[in-house]
Order: sequence, then C-alpha cells, then structure tokens
Amino acid sequence: MELVRPAVVYKDSFIEALREYQHDNDFTHRSLAYKKLSVEDVEAAFESFVETELSYANGENLPDGYVPCTELWLVDNDVFLGRASIRHRLTEKLTRIGGHIGYDIRPSKRHLGYGNMILKLVLEKAQGLGLSRVLLTSDIRNVGSRKIIEKNGGVLENQIPNPEMGHDALRFWIEIK
Ligand SMILES: CC(C)(COP(=O)(O)OP(=O)(O)OC[C@H]1O[C@@H](n2cnc3c(N)ncnc32)[C@H](O)[C@@H]1OP(=O)(O)O)[C@@H](O)C(=O)NCCC(=O)NCCS
Repeated sequence: MELVRPAVVYKDSFIEALREYQHDNDFTHRSLAYKKLSVEDVEAAFESFVETELSYANGENLPDGYVPCTELWLVDNDVFLGRASIRHRLTEKLTRIGGHIGYDIRPSKRHLGYGNMILKLVLEKAQGLGLSRVLLTSDIRNVGSRKIIEKNGGVLENQIPNPEMGHDALRFWIEIK
C-alpha cells in the first residue's frame, strides 16, 4: 500500500470508487463534490481529470478561494482506496474549518484500518512539503475521524460552530516529528 500522486493507471478502480461515493451519505466537502461529478464525464476524460488534480499543487486550475494543494491517492497495487489533499497554507477560512489536510476512504473500503493508515502516510508527505505543524478539522459527528486524528497525534484546540453544516467542528493540531 502506498500514497501516490493521481495517475491514469488507477482509472478503473477510481471510477468504481466514484460510483460508490455517489451513493454514500457522508457529509464531507469532498464527498459532496464527488457526488456532483458525472461519472460518465470523468470516465470519458480521465487523463484530463488526473492532470487537473496534479495541477493544483502548482497553483493552477484552482477553484475560487482555494490555495495550492497536493492531491494524493492511497492505492494497493492498481486499486484506489482513498484520497487526501494537503493544503500548502491556511487561509482565514481554512484556519476556521478545513485545515491543512483532508482525507477520505472510499465507501467499500472503510472500517479496515485504511483511515488510520492514510493520515499516517499523509503526515510524512506534509513534512516533505515543509510543514511542521498541521491543522485538521472534523465535524463533531465524525467519530471515526476524531479517532484517526487523535491516534496520529492530534491535540484538540477547540470546538467551534460550523453554520454551513449546522453542527460544530473540532479543530486539532498535529506536530510533525
Ligand atoms: C472517517 C473515515 C476516513 C474513516 O476511515 P476508515 O478506513 O473507516 O477508518 P479506520 O478503519 O482506520 O478506523 C479508524 C478508527 O475509527 C473507528 N471508526 C471508523 N469509522 C467509524 C464510525 N463511522 N463510527 C465510529 N467509529 C468509527 C474505527 O473503529 C477505528 O477505531 P480504532 O482505531 O479504535 O479501532 C471514513 O469513514 C471516511 O472516508 N469518511 C468520509 C470522509 C471523512 O469523514 N473524512 C475525514 C474528514 S476530517
């Protein structure tokens, strides 16, 4: 298992995963974004989808208000298991909700330990990007994510309202050693 940059070789399992996300009812920002994508469109233009994902790290093609971010995929051989983003810096909005790191595991591969694994590997990559202390935020309802963050050294700073979700968010810092 490894954390890699998006690549065309993972097309088949990424498309399968995208279908899973479309039927899932979690509430994170990225899962909601994946739900809005047309699987057929992504499949037909997968090369350009991957190029766009890669270009975010150079600050290209970013949606409004986004900062440069490195997209990473957790894979086992050619099978896509999950994804993560490392935001290179915080904005005012990300400092409240969002933080440096977002991650998720595809619905059919949850509860197998991959969530703990992806964050461990992402922290190593974040260090490689020059980050020594990272912020992660999590919806208070997200019991699994809280466990993952705390298992990886997360220290709770505070709990704040998140009007967009209608539920509080928890803000954690992780010192990368
Ligand atoms: C949160 C998420 C990443 C967990 O991934 P996962 O691969 O199922 O996590 P793991 O199997 O490594 O489990 C990690 C821990 O959380 C617990 N856990 C996972 N999902 C849980 C849930 N829904 N409710 C309660 N506990 C949960 C596991 O039991 C495990 O506990 P343990 O370490 O004490 O054994 C996954 O559910 C997901 O992708 N959700 C949608 C996106 C998301 O919430 N991302 C996080 C944003 S901060």
